[in-house]
Amino acid sequence: MSDRPLPWHDAWERALYSEAGFFRTSRPADHFRTNAHVGAFAGAVAELARRAGAATVVDLGAGGGELLTALRAELPGVRLTGVELAHRPEGLADDIEWRDTLPERIDGLLVANEWLDNVPCDVVELDDHHVPRELLVDPATGEEALGDPHGSSWLRTWWPMTEPGQRAEVGSARDVVWADAVSRVHGTAVAIDYGHLRGDRPPFGSLRSYVDGREVDVRPDGTRDVTAHVAVDAVAHAVGGTLLRQREALTRLGVDGRRPPLDLAHRDPTAYVRALGRAGEAGELLATGGLGDFWWIVTDTLGHGTLAP
Ligand SMILES: C[S@@+](CC[C@H](N)C(=O)[O-])C[C@H]1O[C@@H](n2cnc3c(N)ncnc32)[C@H](O)[C@@H]1O
Repeated sequence: MSDRPLPWHDAWERALYSEAGFFRTSRPADHFRTNAHVGAFAGAVAELARRAGAATVVDLGAGGGELLTALRAELPGVRLTGVELAHRPEGLADDIEWRDTLPERIDGLLVANEWLDNVPCDVVELDDHHVPRELLVDPATGEEALGDPHGSSWLRTWWPMTEPGQRAEVGSARDVVWADAVSRVHGTAVAIDYGHLRGDRPPFGSLRSYVDGREVDVRPDGTRDVTAHVAVDAVAHAVGGTLLRQREALTRLGVDGRRPPLDLAHRDPTAYVRALGRAGEAGELLATGGLGDFWWIVTDTLGHGTLAP
């Protein structure tokens, strides 16, 4: 990689998605555990697909195909498609389609789990004169420098900064790509991610890097993930979506983290152990301070109200 300082957006794009980029050379599951790796999540997505009457489920940013593989058992007869820049996983069932661009039209359910946080953004910092300036970064070291002023109505609306030194990730690119994805859907679209609202933006942004399950220095050099929390209210506004915390969305879909009744252990020990496993997975998906705090941005383009309480 070149050492030339680049706008953060360009360095981020290259670090993750160029031929030698992080997501081209390794799978998400090698580095972190997501909803898609927890069995009970597929059950909830399957329930959402059934409520949407989906003939097709498209998983955008499908990673290693874990969610689609689990859905295959849950949704016989439903067409499953992974949209992913990385190559088709070895051993993926032949009847799961794998492609690198979204279909023109999706009749059914579109899911994007932890996809938006990896959509590169401009990163800005408020200078001593209260002017938002684009941040440049040296990909090899992560060292940053202030660039040109960054005029953005998105910042003024969604992430106003007040004190010199404050930083923000400009989420307009995410609003645009998710709006494009949702415009293809005849049914339900859901983006699921960690995020923040206008009233609680992190004052110094949320740019982070992870590799092998641990947080490391932020550096767009292709050896590590680069991610930032999603301004979920801005995205929801762009698509006319409804915002829900994951624990609320999953509860509406019937995910239950309560332990099975103890008498089941006596009546049917095997069923008890199975139910205990399901409750454990549900607990992980619903956890406060963990996956339960994630946001769901839900858009029913046909007005079905699939997640209405
Ligand atoms: C954090 S991973 C999430 C993977 C999976 N959804 C999960 O929850 O485990 C983000 C994935 O999105 C993929 N991705 C990013 N931008 C993409 C794009 N424009 N089209 C298709 N896939 C993309 C990356 O290659 C990466 O595998």
